[in-house]
Amino acid sequence: MTLRDISPAVHDLVGIGFGPSNLALAIALQEQAASGRPLDAHFLEKQQNYQWHGNTLVSQSEMQISFLKDLVSMRNPTSPYSFVNYLHRHGRLVDFINLRTFYPSRMEYNDYLRWAASHFAGQCSLGEEVQTIEPETDGGRIDRVRVISRDAQGRERTRVARSIVLSTGGTPRIPEAFRGMRDDSRVTHHSGYLNWIRNQPCVGGKPMRIAVIGAGQSAAEAFIDLHGNYPSVKVDWMVRGAALKPADDSPFVNEIFAPAYTDVVFEQAQAGRDRLIEAYLNTNYSVIDADLIEQIYAMLYRQKVSGQFRANLLTCKAVRAAHGGANGIELTVATTAPGAGIDADSETRRYDAVVLATGYERESHRRLLEPLARYLGDFLVDRNYRVQAAPELAVPVYLQGFCQSSHGLSDTLLSVLPVRAEEIAGAIHDALSANRDRCWAPSTVQKDGSQAIAAA
Ligand SMILES: Cc1cc2nc3c(=O)[nH]c(=O)nc-3n(C[C@H](O)[C@H](O)[C@H](O)COP(=O)(O)OP(=O)(O)OC[C@H]3O[C@@H](n4cnc5c(N)ncnc54)[C@H](O)[C@@H]3O)c2cc1C
Ligand SMILES: NC(=O)c1ccc[n+]([C@@H]2O[C@H](COP(=O)([O-])OP(=O)(O)OC[C@H]3O[C@@H](n4cnc5c(N)ncnc54)[C@H](OP(=O)(O)O)[C@@H]3O)[C@@H](O)[C@H]2O)c1
Repeated sequence: MTLRDISPAVHDLVGIGFGPSNLALAIALQEQAASGRPLDAHFLEKQQNYQWHGNTLVSQSEMQISFLKDLVSMRNPTSPYSFVNYLHRHGRLVDFINLRTFYPSRMEYNDYLRWAASHFAGQCSLGEEVQTIEPETDGGRIDRVRVISRDAQGRERTRVARSIVLSTGGTPRIPEAFRGMRDDSRVTHHSGYLNWIRNQPCVGGKPMRIAVIGAGQSAAEAFIDLHGNYPSVKVDWMVRGAALKPADDSPFVNEIFAPAYTDVVFEQAQAGRDRLIEAYLNTNYSVIDADLIEQIYAMLYRQKVSGQFRANLLTCKAVRAAHGGANGIELTVATTAPGAGIDADSETRRYDAVVLATGYERESHRRLLEPLARYLGDFLVDRNYRVQAAPELAVPVYLQGFCQSSHGLSDTLLSVLPVRAEEIAGAIHDALSANRDRCWAPSTVQKDGSQAIAAA
Protein backbone atom coordinates (compact mmCIF):
# COMPACT_ATOMS: atom_id res chain seq x y z
CA MET A 1 0.00 0.00 0.00
CA THR A 2 1.31 3.50 -0.75
CA LEU A 3 0.98 6.29 1.79
CA ARG A 4 -0.19 9.58 0.30
CA ASP A 5 0.60 13.03 1.59
CA ILE A 6 -2.68 14.97 1.72
CA SER A 7 -1.50 18.55 2.16
CA PRO A 8 0.26 19.51 -1.04
CA ALA A 9 2.48 22.56 -1.11
CA VAL A 10 1.95 25.01 -4.00
CA HIS A 11 5.03 26.29 -5.85
CA ASP A 12 5.50 28.74 -8.69
CA LEU A 13 7.76 26.15 -10.25
CA VAL A 14 8.52 22.48 -9.70
CA GLY A 15 11.64 21.22 -11.47
CA ILE A 16 11.84 17.50 -12.17
CA GLY A 17 15.41 16.16 -11.87
CA PHE A 18 18.34 18.05 -10.38
CA GLY A 19 21.08 17.24 -12.87
CA PRO A 20 23.22 20.03 -14.34
CA SER A 21 20.28 21.47 -16.34
CA ASN A 22 17.99 22.18 -13.39
CA LEU A 23 20.93 23.01 -11.13
CA ALA A 24 21.94 25.72 -13.63
CA LEU A 25 18.31 26.86 -13.60
CA ALA A 26 18.24 27.06 -9.78
CA ILE A 27 21.28 29.33 -9.92
CA ALA A 28 19.77 31.50 -12.66
CA LEU A 29 16.55 31.80 -10.61
CA GLN A 30 18.57 32.88 -7.58
CA GLU A 31 20.19 35.64 -9.68
CA GLN A 32 16.80 36.63 -11.06
CA ALA A 33 15.37 36.85 -7.52
CA ALA A 34 18.26 39.12 -6.53
CA SER A 35 17.29 41.44 -9.37
CA GLY A 36 13.76 41.74 -7.96
CA ARG A 37 11.93 38.97 -9.82
CA PRO A 38 11.60 36.16 -7.26
CA LEU A 39 9.89 32.82 -7.87
CA ASP A 40 9.20 30.05 -5.40
CA ALA A 41 10.89 27.02 -7.00
CA HIS A 42 11.34 23.49 -5.73
CA PHE A 43 13.21 20.61 -7.37
CA LEU A 44 12.71 16.86 -7.07
CA GLU A 45 15.60 14.45 -7.66
CA LYS A 46 15.27 10.67 -7.58
CA GLN A 47 18.81 9.98 -6.39
CA GLN A 48 19.22 9.97 -2.62
CA ASN A 49 22.97 10.46 -2.96
CA TYR A 50 23.29 13.18 -5.60
CA GLN A 51 25.75 12.29 -8.38
CA TRP A 52 26.36 13.15 -12.03
CA HIS A 53 26.18 9.87 -14.00
CA GLY A 54 27.71 8.37 -10.86
CA ASN A 55 27.93 4.77 -12.07
CA THR A 56 30.12 5.76 -15.01
CA LEU A 57 32.80 7.67 -13.10
CA VAL A 58 35.74 5.40 -13.84
CA SER A 59 39.03 6.91 -12.80
CA GLN A 60 40.30 7.55 -16.37
CA SER A 61 37.20 9.43 -17.48
CA GLU A 62 37.73 13.07 -18.39
CA MET A 63 35.39 15.91 -19.29
CA GLN A 64 34.63 16.41 -22.95
CA ILE A 65 34.00 20.11 -22.55
CA SER A 66 36.04 22.99 -21.19
CA PHE A 67 35.56 23.76 -17.47
CA LEU A 68 34.83 27.33 -18.59
CA LYS A 69 31.51 25.97 -19.85
CA ASP A 70 30.50 25.34 -16.24
CA LEU A 71 27.08 26.10 -14.70
CA VAL A 72 27.46 29.88 -14.86
CA SER A 73 30.56 31.41 -16.44
CA MET A 74 29.26 31.96 -19.97
CA ARG A 75 26.43 34.05 -18.51
CA ASN A 76 28.01 35.47 -15.39
CA PRO A 77 31.75 34.90 -14.92
CA THR A 78 31.54 36.58 -11.50
CA SER A 79 29.07 34.03 -10.10
CA PRO A 80 30.16 32.25 -6.88
CA TYR A 81 29.09 28.94 -8.51
CA SER A 82 31.89 28.87 -11.10
CA PHE A 83 34.27 25.94 -11.40
CA VAL A 84 37.14 28.34 -10.67
CA ASN A 85 35.51 29.40 -7.39
CA TYR A 86 34.92 25.72 -6.55
CA LEU A 87 38.67 25.09 -7.03
CA HIS A 88 39.50 28.16 -4.97
CA ARG A 89 37.18 27.11 -2.12
CA HIS A 90 38.73 23.65 -2.10
CA GLY A 91 42.30 24.94 -2.08
CA ARG A 92 43.21 23.43 -5.46
CA LEU A 93 43.23 26.43 -7.80
CA VAL A 94 47.03 26.64 -8.08
CA ASP A 95 47.42 22.88 -8.47
CA PHE A 96 44.71 22.80 -11.12
CA ILE A 97 46.45 25.56 -13.06
CA ASN A 98 49.60 23.44 -12.99
CA LEU A 99 47.69 20.61 -14.66
CA ARG A 100 47.46 22.88 -17.72
CA THR A 101 44.16 21.42 -18.88
CA PHE A 102 40.70 22.61 -19.82
CA TYR A 103 39.35 19.10 -19.17
CA PRO A 104 39.10 18.05 -15.51
CA SER A 105 38.38 14.45 -14.58
CA ARG A 106 34.67 13.63 -14.50
CA MET A 107 35.16 12.66 -10.84
CA GLU A 108 36.24 16.20 -10.04
CA TYR A 109 33.42 17.69 -12.12
CA ASN A 110 30.98 15.47 -10.24
CA ASP A 111 32.38 16.88 -7.00
CA TYR A 112 31.95 20.43 -8.39
CA LEU A 113 28.31 19.75 -9.26
CA ARG A 114 27.67 18.22 -5.82
CA TRP A 115 29.22 21.26 -4.18
CA ALA A 116 27.08 23.62 -6.26
CA ALA A 117 23.96 21.52 -5.56
CA SER A 118 24.63 21.56 -1.81
CA HIS A 119 23.88 25.31 -1.80
CA PHE A 120 20.32 24.51 -2.83
CA ALA A 121 19.62 21.77 -0.29
CA GLY A 122 16.58 23.66 1.02
CA GLN A 123 15.10 23.86 -2.46
CA CYS A 124 15.62 20.28 -3.56
CA SER A 125 14.10 17.06 -2.24
CA LEU A 126 16.47 14.16 -2.87
CA GLY A 127 15.31 10.54 -3.05
CA GLU A 128 11.95 11.38 -4.61
CA GLU A 129 11.17 9.97 -8.04
CA VAL A 130 8.42 11.74 -9.92
CA GLN A 131 5.82 9.25 -11.12
CA THR A 132 3.48 11.48 -13.03
CA ILE A 133 2.24 15.04 -13.54
CA GLU A 134 -1.53 15.50 -13.54
CA PRO A 135 -3.76 18.47 -14.34
CA GLU A 136 -5.77 20.09 -11.55
CA THR A 137 -8.94 20.68 -13.45
CA ASP A 138 -12.53 21.60 -12.82
CA GLY A 139 -13.29 21.17 -16.50
CA GLY A 140 -12.06 24.65 -17.58
CA ARG A 141 -8.71 26.36 -17.65
CA ILE A 142 -5.82 24.51 -15.95
CA ASP A 143 -3.80 26.86 -13.76
CA ARG A 144 -2.01 24.23 -11.71
CA VAL A 145 -0.68 20.71 -12.02
CA ARG A 146 -0.06 18.05 -9.38
CA VAL A 147 3.41 16.53 -9.33
CA ILE A 148 3.31 13.11 -7.72
CA SER A 149 6.55 11.60 -6.47
CA ARG A 150 7.49 8.48 -4.53
CA ASP A 151 10.41 7.90 -2.16
CA ALA A 152 12.40 4.71 -1.56
CA GLN A 153 9.95 3.64 1.18
CA GLY A 154 7.05 3.87 -1.27
CA ARG A 155 5.59 7.03 0.29
CA GLU A 156 3.80 9.18 -2.26
CA ARG A 157 3.87 12.93 -2.09
CA THR A 158 1.98 15.52 -4.08
CA ARG A 159 3.13 19.04 -4.84
CA VAL A 160 1.12 21.58 -6.75
CA ALA A 161 2.89 23.70 -9.36
CA ARG A 162 2.06 26.74 -11.47
CA SER A 163 4.84 25.81 -13.90
CA ILE A 164 7.05 22.82 -14.65
CA VAL A 165 10.58 22.35 -15.93
CA LEU A 166 11.25 18.76 -16.84
CA SER A 167 14.98 17.89 -17.05
CA THR A 168 15.16 14.16 -16.45
CA GLY A 169 18.00 13.31 -18.85
CA GLY A 170 18.39 10.20 -20.99
CA THR A 171 17.09 6.67 -20.44
CA PRO A 172 19.31 3.64 -21.23
CA ARG A 173 18.79 2.31 -24.76
CA ILE A 174 18.51 -1.49 -24.62
CA PRO A 175 18.90 -3.24 -28.00
CA GLU A 176 16.01 -5.45 -29.08
CA ALA A 177 18.10 -8.64 -28.70
CA PHE A 178 18.56 -7.94 -24.94
CA ARG A 179 15.02 -6.81 -24.07
CA GLY A 180 14.20 -10.24 -22.58
CA MET A 181 17.27 -10.11 -20.31
CA ARG A 182 16.39 -7.03 -18.26
CA ASP A 183 16.39 -9.07 -15.02
CA ASP A 184 19.58 -10.99 -15.79
CA SER A 185 22.25 -9.59 -13.45
CA ARG A 186 24.99 -10.65 -15.89
CA VAL A 187 23.92 -7.90 -18.29
CA THR A 188 24.25 -4.21 -17.52
CA HIS A 189 23.77 -0.98 -19.39
CA HIS A 190 26.80 1.28 -19.09
CA SER A 191 24.77 3.74 -16.96
CA GLY A 192 24.92 1.15 -14.12
CA TYR A 193 28.50 0.01 -14.75
CA LEU A 194 30.33 0.74 -11.47
CA ASN A 195 27.64 -0.67 -9.18
CA TRP A 196 27.48 -3.74 -11.39
CA ILE A 197 31.19 -4.45 -11.76
CA ARG A 198 31.64 -4.35 -7.97
CA ASN A 199 29.55 -7.53 -7.74
CA GLN A 200 31.22 -9.45 -10.56
CA PRO A 201 33.51 -12.45 -9.84
CA CYS A 202 36.45 -10.71 -11.59
CA VAL A 203 36.71 -8.36 -8.60
CA GLY A 204 37.96 -11.40 -6.63
CA GLY A 205 40.27 -12.41 -9.49
CA LYS A 206 38.00 -15.06 -11.07
CA PRO A 207 38.40 -15.39 -14.87
CA MET A 208 35.58 -13.81 -16.87
CA ARG A 209 34.80 -13.29 -20.53
CA ILE A 210 32.96 -10.01 -20.98
CA ALA A 211 31.48 -8.50 -24.15
CA VAL A 212 31.18 -4.72 -24.56
CA ILE A 213 28.71 -3.52 -27.20
CA GLY A 214 28.60 -0.04 -28.79
CA ALA A 215 31.16 2.25 -30.45
CA GLY A 216 30.82 5.48 -28.44
CA GLN A 217 32.72 7.09 -25.57
CA SER A 218 30.97 4.92 -22.96
CA ALA A 219 32.05 1.69 -24.66
CA ALA A 220 35.63 2.93 -24.97
CA GLU A 221 35.78 3.81 -21.26
CA ALA A 222 34.31 0.44 -20.22
CA PHE A 223 36.78 -1.39 -22.49
CA ILE A 224 39.77 0.44 -20.98
CA ASP A 225 38.50 -0.04 -17.43
CA LEU A 226 37.85 -3.78 -17.83
CA HIS A 227 41.24 -4.35 -19.42
CA GLY A 228 43.19 -2.06 -17.10
CA ASN A 229 41.64 -2.83 -13.71
CA TYR A 230 40.60 -6.48 -13.94
CA PRO A 231 43.52 -8.69 -15.05
CA SER A 232 41.35 -11.84 -14.98
CA VAL A 233 38.96 -10.44 -17.61
CA LYS A 234 39.08 -11.23 -21.31
CA VAL A 235 37.09 -8.57 -23.09
CA ASP A 236 35.63 -8.56 -26.59
CA TRP A 237 34.45 -5.19 -27.83
CA MET A 238 31.89 -5.51 -30.61
CA VAL A 239 31.04 -2.61 -32.86
CA ARG A 240 28.71 -2.52 -35.85
CA GLY A 241 30.94 -0.23 -37.92
CA ALA A 242 34.25 -0.99 -39.66
CA ALA A 243 36.38 1.33 -37.46
CA LEU A 244 36.29 3.41 -34.27
CA LYS A 245 35.72 7.06 -35.12
CA PRO A 246 37.06 10.18 -33.34
CA ALA A 247 34.82 12.91 -31.95
CA ASP A 248 35.27 16.08 -33.96
CA ASP A 249 36.12 18.76 -31.38
CA SER A 250 38.12 20.96 -33.74
CA PRO A 251 37.65 24.70 -33.17
CA PHE A 252 35.55 25.71 -36.18
CA VAL A 253 33.21 22.76 -35.72
CA ASN A 254 33.03 23.49 -32.01
CA GLU A 255 31.34 26.79 -32.80
CA ILE A 256 28.10 24.84 -33.28
CA PHE A 257 28.02 24.55 -29.47
CA ALA A 258 28.04 28.33 -28.96
CA PRO A 259 24.84 29.76 -27.42
CA ALA A 260 24.27 31.90 -30.55
CA TYR A 261 24.11 28.76 -32.68
CA THR A 262 20.87 27.79 -30.94
CA ASP A 263 19.20 30.60 -32.90
CA VAL A 264 20.79 29.42 -36.14
CA VAL A 265 19.21 25.98 -35.68
CA PHE A 266 15.90 27.15 -34.25
CA GLU A 267 15.26 29.65 -37.04
CA GLN A 268 15.38 26.94 -39.73
CA ALA A 269 12.40 24.99 -40.97
CA GLN A 270 12.45 21.43 -39.59
CA ALA A 271 14.20 19.99 -42.68
CA GLY A 272 17.00 22.55 -42.27
CA ARG A 273 17.34 21.82 -38.55
CA ASP A 274 17.58 18.10 -39.31
CA ARG A 275 20.31 18.73 -41.87
CA LEU A 276 22.36 20.84 -39.43
CA ILE A 277 22.08 18.19 -36.73
CA GLU A 278 22.87 15.31 -39.06
CA ALA A 279 25.94 17.13 -40.42
CA TYR A 280 27.55 17.30 -36.97
CA LEU A 281 26.44 14.07 -35.29
CA ASN A 282 30.10 13.03 -35.23
CA THR A 283 30.79 15.66 -32.58
CA ASN A 284 28.84 13.60 -30.05
CA TYR A 285 27.28 10.28 -31.06
CA SER A 286 29.03 6.98 -31.84
CA VAL A 287 32.39 8.71 -31.55
CA ILE A 288 35.33 8.61 -29.14
CA ASP A 289 37.79 11.18 -27.87
CA ALA A 290 40.76 11.08 -30.30
CA ASP A 291 43.36 10.72 -27.49
CA LEU A 292 41.52 7.71 -26.12
CA ILE A 293 41.49 6.10 -29.57
CA GLU A 294 45.28 6.52 -29.70
CA GLN A 295 45.58 4.89 -26.25
CA ILE A 296 43.40 1.96 -27.30
CA TYR A 297 45.36 1.44 -30.51
CA ALA A 298 48.64 1.44 -28.56
CA MET A 299 47.23 -0.99 -26.02
CA LEU A 300 46.09 -3.41 -28.74
CA TYR A 301 49.48 -3.07 -30.46
CA ARG A 302 51.31 -3.97 -27.24
CA GLN A 303 49.31 -7.20 -27.18
CA LYS A 304 50.58 -8.03 -30.67
CA VAL A 305 54.15 -7.55 -29.42
CA SER A 306 53.70 -9.67 -26.30
CA GLY A 307 51.51 -12.29 -27.97
CA GLN A 308 49.14 -12.09 -24.96
CA PHE A 309 45.64 -11.29 -26.20
CA ARG A 310 43.24 -10.31 -23.43
CA ALA A 311 41.31 -7.58 -25.23
CA ASN A 312 39.88 -7.72 -28.75
CA LEU A 313 38.16 -5.18 -30.93
CA LEU A 314 35.69 -6.94 -33.23
CA THR A 315 34.43 -4.69 -36.02
CA CYS A 316 31.43 -5.22 -38.33
CA LYS A 317 29.68 -7.27 -35.64
CA ALA A 318 25.98 -7.04 -34.88
CA VAL A 319 24.29 -9.03 -32.11
CA ARG A 320 21.15 -10.57 -33.58
CA ALA A 321 20.04 -12.58 -30.50
CA ALA A 322 20.99 -13.05 -26.84
CA HIS A 323 20.10 -15.92 -24.55
CA GLY A 324 21.02 -16.37 -20.87
CA GLY A 325 21.65 -19.95 -19.76
CA ALA A 326 23.39 -21.83 -16.96
CA ASN A 327 26.71 -21.74 -18.84
CA GLY A 328 26.68 -18.08 -19.67
CA ILE A 329 25.18 -15.71 -22.19
CA GLU A 330 25.01 -16.91 -25.77
CA LEU A 331 25.14 -14.21 -28.39
CA THR A 332 24.28 -14.80 -32.02
CA VAL A 333 26.68 -12.46 -33.74
CA ALA A 334 26.45 -11.55 -37.41
CA THR A 335 29.36 -10.22 -39.42
CA THR A 336 28.06 -7.42 -41.57
CA ALA A 337 29.56 -6.40 -44.87
CA PRO A 338 30.95 -2.88 -44.24
CA GLY A 339 28.51 -0.25 -45.43
CA ALA A 340 26.03 -2.77 -46.85
CA GLY A 341 24.23 -3.69 -43.63
CA ILE A 342 23.85 -7.27 -44.92
CA ASP A 343 24.83 -10.28 -42.78
CA ALA A 344 27.74 -12.05 -44.43
CA ASP A 345 28.19 -14.65 -41.73
CA SER A 346 26.87 -15.60 -38.29
CA GLU A 347 28.33 -17.34 -35.25
CA THR A 348 27.53 -18.08 -31.60
CA ARG A 349 29.75 -16.59 -28.89
CA ARG A 350 29.50 -17.28 -25.17
CA TYR A 351 30.24 -14.73 -22.42
CA ASP A 352 29.98 -14.53 -18.64
CA ALA A 353 28.69 -10.98 -18.80
CA VAL A 354 27.75 -8.18 -21.21
CA VAL A 355 28.08 -4.38 -20.97
CA LEU A 356 25.62 -2.54 -23.21
CA ALA A 357 27.22 0.81 -24.01
CA THR A 358 24.41 1.40 -26.47
CA GLY A 359 23.55 5.00 -25.70
CA TYR A 360 20.43 6.74 -24.44
CA GLU A 361 16.88 7.52 -25.51
CA ARG A 362 15.11 10.75 -24.64
CA GLU A 363 11.53 9.80 -24.02
CA SER A 364 10.84 10.12 -20.28
CA HIS A 365 9.09 13.48 -20.71
CA ARG A 366 6.33 11.77 -22.70
CA ARG A 367 5.75 9.18 -19.95
CA LEU A 368 5.77 11.66 -17.06
CA LEU A 369 3.54 14.17 -18.85
CA GLU A 370 1.16 11.53 -20.21
CA PRO A 371 -1.88 12.84 -18.22
CA LEU A 372 -1.34 16.21 -19.95
CA ALA A 373 -0.66 14.70 -23.38
CA ARG A 374 -3.95 15.86 -24.91
CA TYR A 375 -2.91 19.47 -24.27
CA LEU A 376 0.73 19.10 -25.32
CA GLY A 377 0.38 17.75 -28.85
CA ASP A 378 3.66 16.51 -30.24
CA PHE A 379 5.78 18.28 -27.58
CA LEU A 380 6.95 21.01 -29.95
CA VAL A 381 8.71 23.78 -28.04
CA ASP A 382 9.09 27.49 -28.62
CA ARG A 383 12.46 29.26 -28.58
CA ASN A 384 12.33 29.43 -24.74
CA TYR A 385 11.84 25.66 -24.47
CA ARG A 386 8.16 25.94 -23.53
CA VAL A 387 5.96 23.20 -24.94
CA GLN A 388 3.36 24.69 -27.25
CA ALA A 389 0.14 23.71 -25.52
CA ALA A 390 -3.59 23.96 -26.07
CA PRO A 391 -5.01 27.22 -24.60
CA GLU A 392 -6.80 25.39 -21.73
CA LEU A 393 -3.39 24.49 -20.24
CA ALA A 394 -2.24 27.75 -18.66
CA VAL A 395 0.57 25.96 -16.75
CA PRO A 396 3.75 26.53 -18.75
CA VAL A 397 5.76 23.32 -19.26
CA TYR A 398 9.44 23.63 -20.19
CA LEU A 399 11.82 20.91 -21.35
CA GLN A 400 15.61 20.73 -21.05
CA GLY A 401 17.44 17.90 -22.81
CA PHE A 402 14.50 16.90 -25.02
CA CYS A 403 14.79 19.67 -27.61
CA GLN A 404 17.71 18.53 -29.79
CA SER A 405 15.55 18.39 -32.91
CA SER A 406 14.55 22.07 -32.55
CA HIS A 407 17.50 23.63 -30.67
CA GLY A 408 20.48 21.60 -31.90
CA LEU A 409 23.11 19.24 -30.55
CA SER A 410 23.89 21.39 -27.49
CA ASP A 411 20.55 20.53 -25.97
CA THR A 412 21.60 17.23 -24.37
CA LEU A 413 25.03 18.54 -23.33
CA LEU A 414 26.55 21.03 -20.90
CA SER A 415 27.44 23.52 -23.66
CA VAL A 416 24.72 26.15 -23.29
CA LEU A 417 23.50 25.50 -19.73
CA PRO A 418 24.03 28.98 -18.24
CA VAL A 419 22.42 30.83 -21.13
CA ARG A 420 19.52 28.39 -21.53
CA ALA A 421 18.86 28.57 -17.78
CA GLU A 422 18.61 32.35 -17.93
CA GLU A 423 16.27 32.18 -20.94
CA ILE A 424 13.97 29.72 -19.17
CA ALA A 425 14.06 31.56 -15.83
CA GLY A 426 12.99 34.80 -17.54
CA ALA A 427 10.32 33.04 -19.60
CA ILE A 428 8.76 31.41 -16.51
CA HIS A 429 8.64 34.69 -14.67
CA ASP A 430 6.98 36.41 -17.62
CA ALA A 431 4.50 33.57 -18.18
CA LEU A 432 3.41 33.46 -14.53
CA SER A 433 3.12 37.25 -14.38
CA ALA A 434 0.94 37.16 -17.48
CA ASN A 435 -1.20 34.42 -15.91
CA ARG A 436 -1.63 36.52 -12.75
CA ASP A 437 -2.50 39.64 -14.76
CA ARG A 438 -5.10 37.62 -16.65
CA CYS A 439 -6.63 36.33 -13.39
CA TRP A 440 -6.68 39.79 -11.85
CA ALA A 441 -7.86 41.72 -14.91
CA PRO A 442 -11.07 43.74 -14.20
CA SER A 443 -13.05 41.92 -16.87
CA THR A 444 -12.25 38.49 -15.43
CA VAL A 445 -15.42 36.75 -14.33
CA GLN A 446 -15.23 34.69 -11.14
CA LYS A 447 -16.65 31.20 -10.84
CA ASP A 448 -19.70 32.61 -9.01
CA GLY A 449 -20.30 35.05 -11.86
CA SER A 450 -19.04 38.19 -10.03
CA GLN A 451 -16.22 40.38 -11.41
CA ALA A 452 -12.67 39.95 -10.01
CA ILE A 453 -10.99 43.03 -8.50
CA ALA A 454 -8.17 44.55 -10.58
CA ALA A 455 -4.66 44.10 -9.20
CA ALA A 456 -3.13 47.16 -7.58
C1 LIG B 1 28.58 9.14 -18.92
C2 LIG B 1 28.24 10.47 -19.49
C3 LIG B 1 29.19 11.47 -19.55
C4 LIG B 1 28.87 12.71 -20.10
N1 LIG B 1 29.86 13.65 -20.19
C5 LIG B 1 29.59 14.84 -20.77
C6 LIG B 1 30.59 15.85 -20.92
O1 LIG B 1 31.75 15.66 -20.57
N2 LIG B 1 30.24 17.03 -21.50
C7 LIG B 1 28.96 17.29 -21.92
O2 LIG B 1 28.69 18.39 -22.40
N3 LIG B 1 28.00 16.35 -21.78
C8 LIG B 1 28.28 15.14 -21.24
N4 LIG B 1 27.30 14.18 -21.13
C9 LIG B 1 25.91 14.50 -21.59
C10 LIG B 1 24.94 14.76 -20.41
O3 LIG B 1 23.66 14.61 -20.90
C11 LIG B 1 25.11 16.14 -19.79
O4 LIG B 1 26.40 16.27 -19.31
C12 LIG B 1 24.22 16.42 -18.56
O5 LIG B 1 24.24 15.33 -17.69
C13 LIG B 1 22.83 16.85 -18.92
O6 LIG B 1 22.22 17.30 -17.73
P1 LIG B 1 20.67 17.09 -17.40
O7 LIG B 1 20.43 17.72 -16.10
O8 LIG B 1 19.87 17.55 -18.56
O9 LIG B 1 20.49 15.52 -17.37
P2 LIG B 1 21.08 14.44 -16.29
O10 LIG B 1 22.46 14.80 -15.93
O11 LIG B 1 20.82 13.13 -16.90
O12 LIG B 1 20.18 14.69 -15.03
C14 LIG B 1 18.85 14.27 -14.95
C15 LIG B 1 18.52 14.09 -13.48
O13 LIG B 1 17.14 13.80 -13.34
C16 LIG B 1 16.98 12.77 -12.37
N5 LIG B 1 15.71 12.10 -12.69
C17 LIG B 1 15.43 11.34 -13.78
N6 LIG B 1 14.14 10.93 -13.74
C18 LIG B 1 13.61 11.46 -12.61
C19 LIG B 1 12.31 11.40 -12.03
N7 LIG B 1 11.32 10.72 -12.61
N8 LIG B 1 12.11 12.05 -10.86
C20 LIG B 1 13.10 12.74 -10.26
N9 LIG B 1 14.35 12.82 -10.78
C21 LIG B 1 14.59 12.20 -11.94
C22 LIG B 1 18.21 11.89 -12.55
O14 LIG B 1 18.48 11.14 -11.39
C23 LIG B 1 19.29 12.94 -12.85
O15 LIG B 1 19.95 13.39 -11.70
C24 LIG B 1 27.58 12.95 -20.59
C25 LIG B 1 26.62 11.93 -20.53
C26 LIG B 1 26.94 10.71 -19.99
C27 LIG B 1 25.90 9.62 -19.96
N1 LIG C 1 34.09 11.13 -20.61
C1 LIG C 1 32.95 11.62 -21.00
O1 LIG C 1 32.78 12.82 -20.97
C2 LIG C 1 31.85 10.72 -21.47
C3 LIG C 1 31.83 9.36 -21.17
C4 LIG C 1 30.77 8.59 -21.65
C5 LIG C 1 29.75 9.18 -22.39
N2 LIG C 1 29.81 10.49 -22.66
C6 LIG C 1 28.75 11.17 -23.43
O2 LIG C 1 27.54 10.50 -23.26
C7 LIG C 1 26.77 10.59 -24.44
C8 LIG C 1 26.40 9.19 -24.88
O3 LIG C 1 27.58 8.44 -25.26
P1 LIG C 1 27.47 6.86 -25.37
O4 LIG C 1 28.79 6.32 -25.77
O5 LIG C 1 26.86 6.34 -24.12
O6 LIG C 1 26.37 6.65 -26.51
P2 LIG C 1 26.43 6.92 -28.10
O7 LIG C 1 27.52 7.85 -28.47
O8 LIG C 1 25.05 7.24 -28.50
O9 LIG C 1 26.85 5.50 -28.69
C9 LIG C 1 26.01 4.39 -28.59
C10 LIG C 1 26.62 3.25 -29.38
O10 LIG C 1 25.76 2.13 -29.21
C11 LIG C 1 25.61 1.51 -30.45
N3 LIG C 1 24.32 0.86 -30.52
C12 LIG C 1 23.09 1.39 -30.34
N4 LIG C 1 22.14 0.47 -30.51
C13 LIG C 1 22.79 -0.69 -30.79
C14 LIG C 1 22.35 -2.01 -31.09
N5 LIG C 1 21.06 -2.32 -31.13
N6 LIG C 1 23.30 -2.95 -31.34
C15 LIG C 1 24.61 -2.63 -31.33
N7 LIG C 1 25.08 -1.40 -31.06
C16 LIG C 1 24.17 -0.44 -30.80
C17 LIG C 1 25.74 2.58 -31.50
O11 LIG C 1 26.18 1.91 -32.66
P3 LIG C 1 26.38 2.58 -34.08
O12 LIG C 1 27.58 3.44 -33.96
O13 LIG C 1 26.59 1.41 -34.98
O14 LIG C 1 25.11 3.32 -34.36
C18 LIG C 1 26.76 3.52 -30.86
O15 LIG C 1 28.05 3.20 -31.29
C19 LIG C 1 27.62 11.36 -25.43
O16 LIG C 1 27.29 12.70 -25.32
C20 LIG C 1 29.02 11.15 -24.91
O17 LIG C 1 29.91 12.18 -25.27
C21 LIG C 1 30.84 11.28 -22.22
